[in-house]
Amino acid sequence: MLVLGIETSCDESAAAMVEDGCEMLSNVVASQVDLHRKYGGVVPEIAARAHVDQIIPVLEEAVVGEARPDLVAVTVGPGLVGSLLVGVSAAKGLSWSWGIPMVAVNHVEAHAYAPVLEGRLPQYPFLALVVSGGHTLLAEVGGLDEMEILGQTLDDALGEAYDKVARHLGLGYPGGPVIDEIAPAGDPAACAFPRPMMGSGDYNFSLSGLKTAVIRFMEDSERRDAVRPVEDIAASFQAAALEVVVRKTVRAARDCGLTDVVMGGGVACNRALRLMLGEACEEEGLRLVCPSPSLCTDNAAMIAALGYLRYQAGHRAGLDVDVYPNLKLGGVPRTVA
Ligand code: KG4
Ligand code: ZN
Repeated sequence: MLVLGIETSCDESAAAMVEDGCEMLSNVVASQVDLHRKYGGVVPEIAARAHVDQIIPVLEEAVVGEARPDLVAVTVGPGLVGSLLVGVSAAKGLSWSWGIPMVAVNHVEAHAYAPVLEGRLPQYPFLALVVSGGHTLLAEVGGLDEMEILGQTLDDALGEAYDKVARHLGLGYPGGPVIDEIAPAGDPAACAFPRPMMGSGDYNFSLSGLKTAVIRFMEDSERRDAVRPVEDIAASFQAAALEVVVRKTVRAARDCGLTDVVMGGGVACNRALRLMLGEACEEEGLRLVCPSPSLCTDNAAMIAALGYLRYQAGHRAGLDVDVYPNLKLGGVPRTVA
């Protein structure tokens, strides 16, 4: 079965053709990062307008040359309402005009299914760690549409913290990849940043205090004329943030008796995180599955992959399907499933 995936929940217009839920025939992503750079973050109105401009060329590039799809899978949430509407409207139009069924997909859940595209989905139940610009959570995945949050950020998402710290360091936007790039040249022990909620006894995170600590440290060192190299600050911030994420992930897996861990979302591209979590999982006897970087960041192939599984399980979305900016985990509301 050939599935067309469509993803427009944030600032990437994406379409992909995936055969039988696992074989990628095309995977097209048009990033809007250049449009949002000067604002230091995603501007919802600009994002929605850019999706309108990009969606048709992206769909053409993904579909042309391939056979007509048998199913269209689309992200219905969570995300920016104006952005979601563009993808869902396109999916409805194609579903109606081609006479093919449509299935609704939760964007955050799809991140946990991206490894399917590389033939590497672990057995249920598994632990999912989703770390992106909009989400930071640990969830137990007991089966399709059975994703229960164990812990999540109480304030900033991990990618958001990376981007905000990078902005204060003058590293541009998005800053996550830049911090990843320069941190190995710095000393992770140079600045003693806090490890927020490390001993909280739960699996939640709080990253805004760490971001503030970094900003205060910079202001303070400027006042004292003792400015540290930017690489040291980046490395120290990263060490603090990742230590909490890695420790809590391993603890959640151990406490819940889960042996397989899947990591996804844009920050899962981070080399230090992949290394640290890989080593921690190995020490604990856990299997870590993390897709290639291009499948960690937002893409439509993961939407097609999860859409295929949901279709096989009997889910369908009608032409009255809505968008759900605050969609929770656990599939999509029954009214559209
Ligand atoms: O999953 P994604 O593409 O979009 C959202 O759903 O948010 O994630 C984007 C986020 C941004 O905050 C970006 O800075 C971060 O992922 N990111 C990274 C890296 N690559 C992307 N953060 C740290 N290291 C990276 N290599
Ligand atoms: Zn995402």
